[in-house]
Parts: sequence; C-alpha cells; structure tokens
Amino acid sequence: MTTDTIAIACDHGALALKTHMVTYLKDKGYEILDLGVNGPESVDYPDFGYKVAQAIKEGTVTRGILMCGSGIGISIAANRFTEIRCALVHDVTGARLTREHNDANVIAFGGRMIGPDLCEECVDTFLTTKFEGGRHQRRVDKLSNPSV
Ligand code: RB5
Repeated sequence: MTTDTIAIACDHGALALKTHMVTYLKDKGYEILDLGVNGPESVDYPDFGYKVAQAIKEGTVTRGILMCGSGIGISIAANRFTEIRCALVHDVTGARLTREHNDANVIAFGGRMIGPDLCEECVDTFLTTKFEGGRHQRRVDKLSNPSV
C-alpha cells in the first residue's frame, strides 16, 4: 500500500456514486482501497465511516473518501476519530478550502445530493490542493486537543 492509495467507502445511499468514483480514480492512476459496501443491501453508515477512519488511524492510507445518502451521517462517524478531519463538501470551493484551511484528510459526499461530474471535480481539487499551514496550523492543532 502506498501513500498514494486512497481509501473509499459508502453505505447503500451512495453505491452508484462510489462505483463511479472508484473507476474514475483508478483510470487516473490512483490505487484504491475499496472498503465497501459493494452491494445494494441496507447497511449502517457508521460501520463504513469507521473503516476508512481506522485505515487512516493505522497509517494504511493517508486520505479517504466517504459517501452516504446525505453525506452527513458518515462524515459525523469519521470525525469521531481524533485523527480524522472529514469535510462534507457540496462544491469545488469547499473542496479547496477544506484542504487549504483545515488540512482535511477525508472528504465526504451525499450520493443523493451531488452528481458524478461535480464529485469528480471536488475530488480532483481535494487530492491536489495543499494545506496552507501558517495560522491554520494552530487551529488544526486545536482540533486534536479540544479544551474549553
Ligand atoms: C440511509 O438511508 C441514510 O440515512 C444515510 O445514507 C445517510 O444519509 C445518513 O446520514
């Protein structure tokens, strides 16, 4: 597994979009760790959010893509892990900003909210945009150390 490998997972609400994106990313040369779901059965989105989060926590991969019907539940699940900064994104500006400002390591989409063409653009942006660091580093550090 290389650091260029991208983990991806979804629930039944986004199987068509995940299938599209796996093909798209493989055609672009990325290694993909597909953690399911791979059939139409109804499943629980936390199980699949946790699979990608765990792969990042263990260092198997550095980046992930998650999808459920809305993108909301699976992004909440991934963000339960201190190591994860998962952004639910609906447009290319969000995909850019969450890399530049939040150093997001996971991007989430709603399979019932976004189409494949826009998803491709968002993922391309997410995978190629660098974290700006500077003042944003201090803020990102605080995400790992919550205090009141
Ligand atoms: C499943 O029907 C749906 O609840 C799930 O995909 C997601 O939208 C939850 O946030």
